Amino acid sequence: MLKIRVPATSANLGPGFDCLGLALDLWNEISFEPADELIYAVTGENAPQLANPATNLLTRSLLQVYQRYGKRLPGLRIHAHNQIWINSGIGSSAASIVAGLFAANELLGQPMDLSGLLRVASEIEGHPDNVAPALLGGLVIAAMLPHEVIWRRYELTDLSIVIVKPEMEWTTAQGRAILPDVYSRTDAVFNIARTPLVIDALRRGDLDLLQQVMDDRLHQPYRLKHILAGEKAYWTARKFGATALSGAGPSFICFVPAHTAEIARRAILEAIYEEGVQARSLITRPSNRGVHVVKE
Ligand code: HSE
Repeated sequence: MLKIRVPATSANLGPGFDCLGLALDLWNEISFEPADELIYAVTGENAPQLANPATNLLTRSLLQVYQRYGKRLPGLRIHAHNQIWINSGIGSSAASIVAGLFAANELLGQPMDLSGLLRVASEIEGHPDNVAPALLGGLVIAAMLPHEVIWRRYELTDLSIVIVKPEMEWTTAQGRAILPDVYSRTDAVFNIARTPLVIDALRRGDLDLLQQVMDDRLHQPYRLKHILAGEKAYWTARKFGATALSGAGPSFICFVPAHTAEIARRAILEAIYEEGVQARSLITRPSNRGVHVVKE
């Protein structure tokens, strides 16, 4: 019997496109028990859409590790209880990939170290900024080199985070397809200057600095136009704290003082409702733990 938990994540954090991500205190919990065949059951978020073991990322990632080491996947009864919303920009696909790789690595006696797991996870996802914090916890900077992913992780103090998602069909693939291939030097410098300042602000819990520098010119201006009630939600959230699209969206992440979190959550929801758009929300905080085994 193996039980693991894997966190939601928020990537980019404004200017840190494809290289910066934060683990959140919101979890999928997955158990693995010996069985005669592969049985996969899902409860919680979006259970019906995730129930097919032939197509879901968790079982495919699990299988990939077994194949890599020339092993046959044994019969397993897998039960996932999910809290992470899918297609929302809070790292549900990264969580599934990391859960599958991590579980297989545990079941096979840990043939890969963390860097090995991160490399494989980043190859599957295509960018490291969600899988890295899902694996390692905390705030993670990751750079994909030709044969490895270089990473640094930092533990954060407690911060209050509001996540709000305008309800719409939106995938990371769509959110990437609309981005330009070429950017101006001005826009590149805009992001280069702000990314280390975002890291510094988060590490020191400096919400005022974060509010000043969590802007972006590489992805948000292009994506916001496609997100239902996106401009309204973004500018409302910014009245309360530093705000960014979470990953490729459509969720927003807003860092607020703890005592205003509930007020901010309601105001952002109201702003979206006023545009005739449904929305959902939650209040969370950073998690300094990544994927881990749950000891019963
Ligand atoms: N960095 C990725 C993107 C994250 O913005 O497309 C996707 O969740």
